[in-house]
Amino acid sequence: MALEFTLPHWYDLHTHFRQDDTLPATVSDHVAMSCAGALAMPNTAPPVGKIFAADEVANYKSVEQYRAEIIAASHGTFREVIVPLYLTRDTTPDMIERGAASGLLKACKYYPPHGTTGAEFGAPLTHFMENGVFQAMQEAGVTLCLHGEEHGLAPERYFDRGENAEEIFYRERMPRLVDSFPELRLVGEHLTTKVGVDFILDAPAHVKANITPQHLIYTVGSLLNGLKYHLYCLPLVKFDADRAALRAAATAPDNSKFFAGTDSAPHTRKTTPCGCAAGCYTGRVAPQLYAQAFEMAGVDLSTKAGQTVFENFLCTIGREFYSLPQPTETFILERQPEKVLPLQIGDQTIIPLPLGMETELPWRIK
Ligand code: NCD
Ligand code: DOR
Ligand code: ZN
Ligand code: ZN
Repeated sequence: MALEFTLPHWYDLHTHFRQDDTLPATVSDHVAMSCAGALAMPNTAPPVGKIFAADEVANYKSVEQYRAEIIAASHGTFREVIVPLYLTRDTTPDMIERGAASGLLKACKYYPPHGTTGAEFGAPLTHFMENGVFQAMQEAGVTLCLHGEEHGLAPERYFDRGENAEEIFYRERMPRLVDSFPELRLVGEHLTTKVGVDFILDAPAHVKANITPQHLIYTVGSLLNGLKYHLYCLPLVKFDADRAALRAAATAPDNSKFFAGTDSAPHTRKTTPCGCAAGCYTGRVAPQLYAQAFEMAGVDLSTKAGQTVFENFLCTIGREFYSLPQPTETFILERQPEKVLPLQIGDQTIIPLPLGMETELPWRIK
């Protein structure tokens, strides 16, 4: 019999469901990979820049509406969904206070202005450090989710070795943020560098990070070898030493800080005439990819100890950090190869990882 083990349903604590026709299709792929819920990112069109549907703030979608749409699309399967408020120049401390008091606002998302897909509504970190928004979040216990990359770098500096956009952010911005708001709950989203890992390890217990499957499995060499554009995401996959640090952090027996957040990001039009959009789609395949990554990191998933570190990363650390309900449902991961199929939405095709590199996953959901 093939190796298999049982896990509780898990929460994907960083994902993109988008809007319109893409939303039901991507939510359904998350249900199919045994998600109990998700933290659904607010860089939709229009962005989720207000909390209550009835409020008039620019032309934004509300946390209230978007969360209800996602739960409805899961047909009651999702136990809980967190929609972070997109931090824009329209965000005020008063919005944070009212949102938190209502129970609807659990998190806010910082995007470096123009730093990634849908980041054009973001404002510099200093803006929120100075206008009372981070202060209000700290007082109300609202989590700050950070796309931790320095913005506004010249293109050729974005990926400097030993000085890339994420490294600059974790060396220069994060220490100041933690010092200025010592109680603010922080999550470094989609961490990719050793510099980031070392910062999170040294930071207080309420500073955590999530890691995607692609940053645990691949390096920039995988992306460049054949220009595998389905592996193009931001922050970019990095170097071997970075991947090794991520693997060590995620698989440590005493890990209390690093948890699953796929950054699954569907693009119906991935390529443009002169380039391609950032984002890797991992709906339906993420637990399988994480299991593969843990094995690559040397974890023996046939042992109780190996299964425990895996469950801790996939199911426990993030759920506890966000005080999400413990699911009673379980699923089985089995070490049997399975073919990966694209997601079809109308006439559009979304290619999930690892297609382009591999046609099969070593693990499947039984
Ligand atoms: C901001 C500004 O000028 O409004 N700076 C910037 O865009 N680089 C200041 C800020 O919001 O921190
Ligand atoms: O690669 C990415 N894609 N990184 C992000 O931060 C956003 C995401 C998206 O929304 O497509
Ligand atoms: Zn991001
Ligand atoms: Zn994302």
